[in-house]
Amino acid sequence: MSEARQALAEQLAEAVYQALADDLSHQKRALLVVSGGSTPVPFFKALAQKPLEWARVDITLADERWVDEQSSDSNAKLVRDNLLQGPAAAATFVPLTSDAGTPEEGVAAVAEATAGLAWPASVVILGMGGDGHTASLFPDSQELGLALSTDEPLVAVRTPSQPQPRITFSADRLHQAKRHILHITGDDKRAVLANAMSGDDVRTLPIRAFLSCPLAIYWAP
Ligand code: 6PG
Repeated sequence: MSEARQALAEQLAEAVYQALADDLSHQKRALLVVSGGSTPVPFFKALAQKPLEWARVDITLADERWVDEQSSDSNAKLVRDNLLQGPAAAATFVPLTSDAGTPEEGVAAVAEATAGLAWPASVVILGMGGDGHTASLFPDSQELGLALSTDEPLVAVRTPSQPQPRITFSADRLHQAKRHILHITGDDKRAVLANAMSGDDVRTLPIRAFLSCPLAIYWAP
């Protein structure tokens, strides 16, 4: 872990802690939506130790791979192992999983499980892949158009570039937040983001679906 990436993670953890604390000062509960992948791990570890009223915080994921929750590919496992630790273990975590065999069969149950969370989210934290995907809005996915246009909360996603089927909140639902944060690392990601900002088609670089939001960008090389 580079010093720059660790410092970024700690800076982001402090900003998210302050945002959640601010919302909890005038509402009963606050919702934090996080993304999976490798970038968030030091951020999760730093945030978990913040002295927040975690019992009043809901946490869910922007997307999930349709795998067993014990799998090393599971974003729910990533959250349980790194964020739901220490003080943050008191938070209410709702994973995007069900015992259905496929995400298509599980979408309704996951939508029901997440409907009662404290939407609009206090914070949605997005990552971005080298292909400009965010959450599971992938440029090579046949469901991308649906995920970008539906007002349904969740979409099952299958895409050639990914080994597992996925489930993702739609762009519409991920827009339902007071704050959007993009947390990315690597020079390659900065170049992709610059490309996205220069006006490429959202179907080519799905991250563009969120560049119209007030977006805080946390980037380290
Ligand atoms: C996932 C994430 C995904 C991630 C990007 C970036 O389930 O993998 O939700 O959208 O944010 O792929 O991943 P890295 O942070 O590992 O580069």
